[in-house]
Amino acid sequence: MDRIRLTGGYELNGTIPISGAKNAALPLMIASLLTDEPLVLTNLPRLTDIATLARLLAELGVEIDVMNSSGEWETLTSRTEGRLSLGADQAKRLAGFGPDTKYRPGGRTLRLTAKKIESTHADYELVSRMRASFWVLGPLLGRCGEADVSLPGGCAIGTRPVDLHLQGLEKLGANIELDKGYVIASTKGGLKGAEIRFSMPSVGATHNVLMAAVLAKGETVIENAAREPEITNLAECLVAMGAKIDGIGTSTLRITGVDKLHGAEVAVICDRIEAGTYAMAAGMTGGDVTLTGADPALFEAALQALSAAGVTVDHTDKGIRITRSGTPLTPVDIVTQPYPAFPTDLQAQFMALMTMADGNAQMTETIFENRFMHVQELARLGALVSLHGDRAIVSGVKALRGAPVMATDLRASVSLVIAGLAAEGETTISRVYHLDRGFERLEDKLSACGADISRLPG
Ligand code: EPZ
Repeated sequence: MDRIRLTGGYELNGTIPISGAKNAALPLMIASLLTDEPLVLTNLPRLTDIATLARLLAELGVEIDVMNSSGEWETLTSRTEGRLSLGADQAKRLAGFGPDTKYRPGGRTLRLTAKKIESTHADYELVSRMRASFWVLGPLLGRCGEADVSLPGGCAIGTRPVDLHLQGLEKLGANIELDKGYVIASTKGGLKGAEIRFSMPSVGATHNVLMAAVLAKGETVIENAAREPEITNLAECLVAMGAKIDGIGTSTLRITGVDKLHGAEVAVICDRIEAGTYAMAAGMTGGDVTLTGADPALFEAALQALSAAGVTVDHTDKGIRITRSGTPLTPVDIVTQPYPAFPTDLQAQFMALMTMADGNAQMTETIFENRFMHVQELARLGALVSLHGDRAIVSGVKALRGAPVMATDLRASVSLVIAGLAAEGETTISRVYHLDRGFERLEDKLSACGADISRLPG
């Protein structure tokens, strides 16, 4: 298994291109199941999660073409013994690790065409690798009236139930049973609009139920819907495909079902979590980094926390410029909450930054009950963090020291990179596959700005 090796102590200076958002790209790709016409998605990031989902969609009958550097479509899916699939080499290519894919910034363009849904079975083998795969349930039910989808896996950051997804789909008239780790769902006479109120604004349940409701008969109201920008990206994509949705960007979505959706071309929004991560990395090392393509409106709370910590944040016509020179970091308390508050997906990175602040900072995690797995590993680098239920108190230290550490989940892994960039000496991070799920060529982006970081093939 590959490892990341880095030697800390270098400032970051330069430009980091921000990729398309993984958490927007995944539901947009799934939306292709809702129409028999092509859905063209631009600005897709090169990530293993994208490849994993593409493999699942191919098994369901989605043909996938990628636009090559000459602007021509190349087909990635192939058929053996009548079954559509995406082979291992093509999956690697989508993840950005193919032999011909020397890293070039700039997102991918994919064309996804689900002329016919060939299977409504989403297998444990793929769904267990990535939680977002579970979101095929809603659109399969909407289009085909039936689906059996494995219960999901994903990052180990809490129990992460799917009760809200299932309750929402049941309200739309789905009959749901659980059997041997699968959700078996069906409808008699199709889904019907309903009033749904989530007890918490779950991102995944909003995606899943929204994609089911666009093809349901009549009106659906989703109250206490999640408002993350990735939901807005999906809702606008669905509208471009012919769906009728009011209240986009608010916590009440009103959907009037239509009989059929059509093809569309939609751009994936920039990755606010990737942008926030590199902003924190630059704040940690000091230097001057411009995050090109980053949209500050998508992560204002995190940028405010960075400014309060003493990092200078400027908005430019190219994106966001992050600078810090000399002055110690000021401790800042944060509380993770649904959008537009401070995102849980940046909590670990901000904690890494606070490990070298001049005093104590409190991180309160309200979204997931077990999202402090990075604390133990940060401690190996010399960080002082104490845990008190859903709160972590970080006591800033003058210096961190490099050490071997282990990635435990996607965002936790990158917090170790941030800490390692400022630590004295060498840090090696194992289980790098977590990072490859969600950060496009992290070592290329950071080394281009002066970091001493490389991948050790293992
Ligand atoms: C999405 O996960 C993201 N994943 C997560 O990013 C992100 O951390 C999370 O939203 C919160 O912003 C993707 O977009 C692919 P939730 P999701 O449903 O949809 C509870 C990353 O690193 N809950 O909003 O799974 C749940 O247990 C990932 O990119 C229920 O109780 O998040 C959690 O405590 C990690 N019942 C809370 O709600 C349900 O039916 C929020 O979960 C659903 C959720």
